[in-house]
Amino acid sequence: MTQTVPAHVAIIMDGNGRWAKKRHLAHTAGHRAGAQALKKLAPAVEKLGVKYLTVYAFSTENWKRPQEEVSALMKLIHEYIQQYIDDTKKNDMRIFIIGDKSRLEPELRRKIAELEATTETKPGLQVNIALNYGGRDEITRAARNLAKKTARGEIVPEDITETFFANQLDTGSMPYPDLLIKTGGEMRLSNFLLWKLAYTEIYVLDKFWPDFTINDMRKAIDWFNGRERRFGGR
Ligand code: IPE
Ligand code: IPE
Ligand code: MG
Repeated sequence: MTQTVPAHVAIIMDGNGRWAKKRHLAHTAGHRAGAQALKKLAPAVEKLGVKYLTVYAFSTENWKRPQEEVSALMKLIHEYIQQYIDDTKKNDMRIFIIGDKSRLEPELRRKIAELEATTETKPGLQVNIALNYGGRDEITRAARNLAKKTARGEIVPEDITETFFANQLDTGSMPYPDLLIKTGGEMRLSNFLLWKLAYTEIYVLDKFWPDFTINDMRKAIDWFNGRERRFGGR
């Protein structure tokens, strides 16, 4: 049977904390192992033929965590953004950050802008990293933008169709995610991509994120191929 490779895969990379706890390590060690797992996975996912990979790295609610964990995570994110900048010559991935960047440190924002600009024209896998991202926040920001455009007379309310609205969201006109993978075993969306996941197939596995490998991705894609997607039809 020929396999269909989903064009857009989204991942809730959950379970770093439990991974670390199991090993009697600090949370931060789990986050570090998680960041490494993503770095290793992305080129392999590209080889499978996936076009878009959207991963949840830090939510709008994660600021509620202890200050040491938040600052360690921000430091780690900064370090990895720098690594991705240093590696741009070695790979052909396009990297894009989704979420509300305005709350991030100016220096991190500058690095993000540099990474996005240097990879913008790359022909390979598009990796969207969700940073200070919340599904409700994304919809709220899109609504606010549309209200501003309407107030300025740039659009009229009738211009706001479903497609028009979708294009205002952080992933713009990219195809909707076909497959959502969540590690760590918990059956909830944790405020990820709420609008665009409406008809996405959801695959939850018990493994913690740092242990997720390309083999697990293959299994998820096999499972995806067995699904009958009806989109509300018969
Ligand atoms: C996911 O791992 C990464 C982030 C939320 C930044 P967690 O830190 O949530 O891991 P668990 O769920 O506590 O195991
Ligand atoms: C979701 O995981 C956010 C990320 C993976 C970045 P959380 O661990 O924050 O979600 P909840 O609190 O378990 O729903
Ligand atoms: Mg978690």
